[in-house]
Amino acid sequence: MKIGILSGGGDAPGINAVIRAVVRKAIRTYKYEVFGFRNGWRGLVDGDFFPLDLKAASGMLPRGGSILGTSRTNPFKHKDGPQRILKNVKENGIEAVVVIGGDDTLGVAHKINELGLPLVGVPKTIDNDLAGTDYTFGFQTAVSIACEALDKLQTTAEAHSRVVILEVMGRYTGWIALWAGIAGGADAILIPERPFDVDEVCSYIRQRQARGVNFSLIVVAEGAKPRGGDRIVYSSGVDEFGHAKLGGVGFYLVKEIEKRCKDIEARVVVLGHIQRGGAPVAFDRVLATRYGIAAIDLVHEGKFGRMVALQGNKIVSVPLKDVVGKRKTVDLELYDIARVFFG
Ligand code: F6P
Repeated sequence: MKIGILSGGGDAPGINAVIRAVVRKAIRTYKYEVFGFRNGWRGLVDGDFFPLDLKAASGMLPRGGSILGTSRTNPFKHKDGPQRILKNVKENGIEAVVVIGGDDTLGVAHKINELGLPLVGVPKTIDNDLAGTDYTFGFQTAVSIACEALDKLQTTAEAHSRVVILEVMGRYTGWIALWAGIAGGADAILIPERPFDVDEVCSYIRQRQARGVNFSLIVVAEGAKPRGGDRIVYSSGVDEFGHAKLGGVGFYLVKEIEKRCKDIEARVVVLGHIQRGGAPVAFDRVLATRYGIAAIDLVHEGKFGRMVALQGNKIVSVPLKDVVGKRKTVDLELYDIARVFFG
């Protein structure tokens, strides 16, 4: 049997660990042939793929990025995109595809599966906002990077008696901000799920000053917005899935805090794609490996139209239709724990 694999959407540390696991078990246990499609759905639309043998899939467990490349291509926005996908797999004898992606990529997977392509999904996004799974791989790596940044920022903030704002990724949800903020001892955490009030942020800074602490660390998710205001975008235009390019809420906060509190000096650090780069942490390597093995097992069992998932400590599978288009927002109980340490 010939199978294909692709990675779509923003990259996340651990994609290569998934590919490695799929290839190893597919070839060694099931005697399949595996082909890698380049650059997400674009590779399937264009019929751009290459053989993935044991050699091609070795030595990449600790490597970030994706050996397949990735893109935000939406086949439904390209002329005859879905038809070209079905034609390409048929003509090349590919009988099933493993799709590694977040909500956009897996949303396309669900529709293409309904059009007749047998496939299984693997949940990937540093944002951890996919429904149906407790964790996506890549998230813990992003959290570690953001936490390390906070540890470094704390010493310089303290030395200069400044407020330092760390802007992290998180388009629609504040998972990275919340986890990194708790782990890094943030004095306020601003997330998309809860529009913020700058006066409240200033009151946390003042509370700290009142007890003799002259620095504060604030973590803000790029998708957080002021109460009654809009999310802040850094350039116009949207991608093929309709998403705006977010960024700049940290700068907005610096300006607003300094406007309200003339004696306070604030700085911002936008962590950006550093959160998505480099080696996955051990947790993500293990999770990605478990996902890859579970995905190829699903293919072997002929259970298509499903996504592998982590629920509790068990790897399960859930129908794609129950997952796509639903967003997993942060656990507000965890946010309440974080709030104990604000101010
Ligand atoms: O993949 C999700 C994500 O990391 C978001 O948090 C962020 O808004 C977006 O990707 C950035 O995408 P790009 O790399 O296309 O700028």
